Amino acid sequence: MKKFLAILLAALMMMSMISFAGAEGVKTYKVGVAIYQFTDNFMTLYRNEIEAYFKTLETDSVKYQLTFVDGKNDMAEQTNQIRNFITQNMDVIILNLVQTSSADAIIDEIVAADIPLVLINREPLAYDADGNTLDEAYEGILNNPKVCYVGADARQSGTFQGEMVAELENHGDINGDGKISYIMIEGDPENIDAQYRTQYSVKALTDAGYEVNCLDDQVGNWDQTKGQELCANALTSYGYDVEVVFCNNDAMALGAVTAITTAGRVVGEDIYLLGVDALEEAVEYVKTGEMTGTVLNDHIGQSHKAVDVAVKLLNGEEIDNYYWVDDVQVNKAYVDSL
Ligand code: GAL
Repeated sequence: MKKFLAILLAALMMMSMISFAGAEGVKTYKVGVAIYQFTDNFMTLYRNEIEAYFKTLETDSVKYQLTFVDGKNDMAEQTNQIRNFITQNMDVIILNLVQTSSADAIIDEIVAADIPLVLINREPLAYDADGNTLDEAYEGILNNPKVCYVGADARQSGTFQGEMVAELENHGDINGDGKISYIMIEGDPENIDAQYRTQYSVKALTDAGYEVNCLDDQVGNWDQTKGQELCANALTSYGYDVEVVFCNNDAMALGAVTAITTAGRVVGEDIYLLGVDALEEAVEYVKTGEMTGTVLNDHIGQSHKAVDVAVKLLNGEEIDNYYWVDDVQVNKAYVDSL
C-alpha cells in the first residue's frame, strides 16, 4: 500500500510538473497596432485582416496579444499612442502614420526604445534640406535594421488607372475633340499615395501619346461624402465636358457614382469613372458597369506581409528595408473572368 501511494504521489508530481511546464512554455508577444483613422474604409479591411491573420499564426506555445489604437487622423493623438506603446513595452509595433512628415521623430523614439517597427500603408519618403520630398528611399528605414515599410507602390495603381482609360475604344475622348478632359479627386495631399496616383494616372495617358485636359483637381481626403460633393460640383460646373473622373481611392469613387447618377450621367456611355482599392462595392459597380475600373490595393497581401515581417522581427530574424505588394487592374474584362 505504501509503495502504491508513493508511486501515485510521484505520478501526480510528474503530471503537475508537466502542466506547469506547459503553462510556462507559452510565450505571449505584445503587438501594438496604430492605425491613422479607424473610419477609413480600406484601412478597416486591412486592420481586420491583421487581427485575423495573427490569430491563424498562434500555436499552443505562441500567442499574440494585439492592441489596436485609432489615431483619429490626428498626429498629436497618434504620438501619444506610440508613447503609450513604448511605456507598455510592446514587443513590436505596426504603424500606419497619420502624417509621414512626422516619421523621423516617431521612428527615433521607437528605435531608442529598441522596439522593432513595421510601417504600413503610408510610405515616408526621403526629403531634401528644404523639406521637399524626393523620389528616394527613406533614411529612417534604410539606417535602422529593425524598421521596415510594407506597402504597394502608388505609382503602379495610378498608372493602372490611366492605362484602363487608354485601353478604351475611344481612349476616354468621348466627344472626339482630340483630348481627354478629366477631373481629379485626390486623397489627403500630404500622402504619397494621393500624389503618385494623381500624377501617374495622367502620365500613363500622356506617355501613351494622348492629350489631356484637367478641368478640376480637388482634395476629397479619401472620404466618400467629400468625393460625392466634389464630383457633383464639377458636373454642375463642367457638365458634359467631363469625360473621365479619376478618384484616388474607391471610397471617393463610390461617392462619385452617386453624383454621376444624380446628374443623369451614364458611366460607359457619356463618362468614365476610375477608383483604387477594389472595395467589394466598387468591384460590384465595375461588374454592373457603374464604374469603369478600379485597382486592387491588396489589403490581404499587404496585411499578411506586415504580420509575417513582424513575426520575423519577434523571432530576431533579419529583415529587408522594403516589402512591395503588387496591385492588379480591375476592369470589366477582369471581373468577368473571375
Ligand atoms: C490608400 C487607400 C485609401 C486610404 C489611404 C489611407 O492606400 O487607397 O483608400 O485608405 O491609403 O492612407
